[in-house]
Amino acid sequence: WAVHAPYVARINELKKTRNAAILAHNYQTPDIFYGVADITGDSLGLARDAAKVDADVIVQCGVHFMAETSKILAPEKTILLPDMDAGCSLAEGITGADVRLLKERYPGVPVVVYVNTSAEVKAEADICCTSSNAVEVVESLGTDRVIFAPDKYLGQWVASQTNVEIILYEGSCEVHERFTGKEIESYRQQHPGIYVLAHPECPQDVLKEADYVGSTGHMIKHLDETRAKQVVMITECSMSDNVAAEHPEKDFIRPCNLCPHMQRITLPKILQALENMAPEVTVPEKVIAGARDSLQRMLEVGK
Ligand code: 13P
Ligand code: SF4
Repeated sequence: WAVHAPYVARINELKKTRNAAILAHNYQTPDIFYGVADITGDSLGLARDAAKVDADVIVQCGVHFMAETSKILAPEKTILLPDMDAGCSLAEGITGADVRLLKERYPGVPVVVYVNTSAEVKAEADICCTSSNAVEVVESLGTDRVIFAPDKYLGQWVASQTNVEIILYEGSCEVHERFTGKEIESYRQQHPGIYVLAHPECPQDVLKEADYVGSTGHMIKHLDETRAKQVVMITECSMSDNVAAEHPEKDFIRPCNLCPHMQRITLPKILQALENMAPEVTVPEKVIAGARDSLQRMLEVGK
């Protein structure tokens, strides 16, 4: 903490001067998560809070699609992303043109896109979803089948939870696709009684082995409810560091798969962003309206 303290102090001071709020995803490192964040959460929670937070400036501690989502839902605010190269393998795996092709191939079938996509892709879709609400969103459409893009693993998970037919797309998260069912089996052998929580971006053999499957936010909530003493969270590993600090009574086994994009955000870069009021994330006017419709429809589901 001694290394971080001067940055934390300066950032917290500048936040006041700029009337800025720091929104940090659950995968941000503990120095950011506990040191400077005003709001922490999963993709759905951060999207909801972007619109509500009383600030002129949002510093998005997460990846590019999250900053775009904030801009779409709060266009009057300045959205800073401390490193513009913080991308996402899912968002990079699909373009607006790809969605147009899907619509041509399956006329009349609604398109659900994961929030881990560019604003352009959201603008082409009917509705967005996150891993917190994907099943509810799919079922809210009232159709026999839907196109679900881009994460094939999340799509397969949704298909296992609903009677709606899911037309999949070939996309995956470079962090979660690396976990295997065999790995989970070996945790169970090494730590009998271990409780396994997994993110639905993991392959199906992993999810079959898990005791609980949910978004980062749902996993955190579920952890509060489980009495298990030893747990493993099959997801980006900074999250275990954050959560472990709040659960000293539990022993966390930590498989470490870091998201290289999330890790691009650091305290020095947050400070620089607040000093320079850059880099700023913007979304073209003509894309904003369509993308906002898809996001708003999602936010209405389950209200
Ligand atoms: P959550 O919506 O579960 O926070 O997931 C975001 C993400 O990028 C998972 O890899
Ligand atoms: Fe994208 Fe995967 Fe990183 Fe999440 S963990 S931001 S889905 S690459």
